[in-house]
Amino acid sequence: MDWGMENRLSQLIQKDGHALFLPIDHGYFQGPTGRLEEPGKTIAPLLQYSDALFITRGVLRACVEPSNSKPVILRVSGGTSVIGHDLADEGLTTSMEEAIRLNVAAVGISVFVGSDYEKESLLNLGKLVNEGERYGIPVMAVTAVGKELEKRDARYLALASRISAELGARVVKTYWCEDFDKVTQGCPVPVVIAGGPQTENEGEVFDFVYDGMQKGAIGINLGRNIWKNDYPVAMIKALRAIIHKKADPKEAREIFNTEKSKKA
Ligand code: 5RP
Repeated sequence: MDWGMENRLSQLIQKDGHALFLPIDHGYFQGPTGRLEEPGKTIAPLLQYSDALFITRGVLRACVEPSNSKPVILRVSGGTSVIGHDLADEGLTTSMEEAIRLNVAAVGISVFVGSDYEKESLLNLGKLVNEGERYGIPVMAVTAVGKELEKRDARYLALASRISAELGARVVKTYWCEDFDKVTQGCPVPVVIAGGPQTENEGEVFDFVYDGMQKGAIGINLGRNIWKNDYPVAMIKALRAIIHKKADPKEAREIFNTEKSKKA
């Protein structure tokens, strides 16, 4: 692996082999969704506890201080909205030249396996990998399901993750599911877990993140279950303990409760 590629991957994946990516990219198709109305305010208290920020170029330039940043994974796919005809109909929105100008550590693109736009999204991934490999920029593939949340089972996620890796993604972001080891075992590149919509309670998140880590994930790319929580800093600190300090769900709950009471 060339120096640039290795250097960027080592900015993202920490020395313990684990990673906590913070996605604040949801506005690219959801607009000013709840708790991301002013993304800069959402990012500010959380940034120091993340290993990288997953974000679009617009919010990066407008809301993140260049002198006070973490490694950036630039969201480079889009072109759809929650009120449009199909979330899967994405294209590439940002050039590799722009990614280099922004000095990013990686670029991220969604793929929609099984959708009407499966072929386009996978070929976009292939094109992005061609360019990323030329310039030493890793590509993170996001195995997206659009509004079809029920697709999130091991069979589907293993298929989508493996295809993403085969097409050259250096990291794959996918959802947690039962039998998550089937997903990680079939995917020859590091896997990070997305959270999906906010769960009923924090404990569920600690449980699935812990289970995913035991079953081969290297970390998380988890957004709404952090920043939609009433105590986002408590949430990210508790998750950080699972990712980097081998905390179990009970210890994570204790950290969450201690941090939560500090705020009150
Ligand atoms: C949304 C994304 C997010 O990065 C991903 O879904 C993770 O966020 P969440 O935990 O909220 O699902 O790709 O465009």
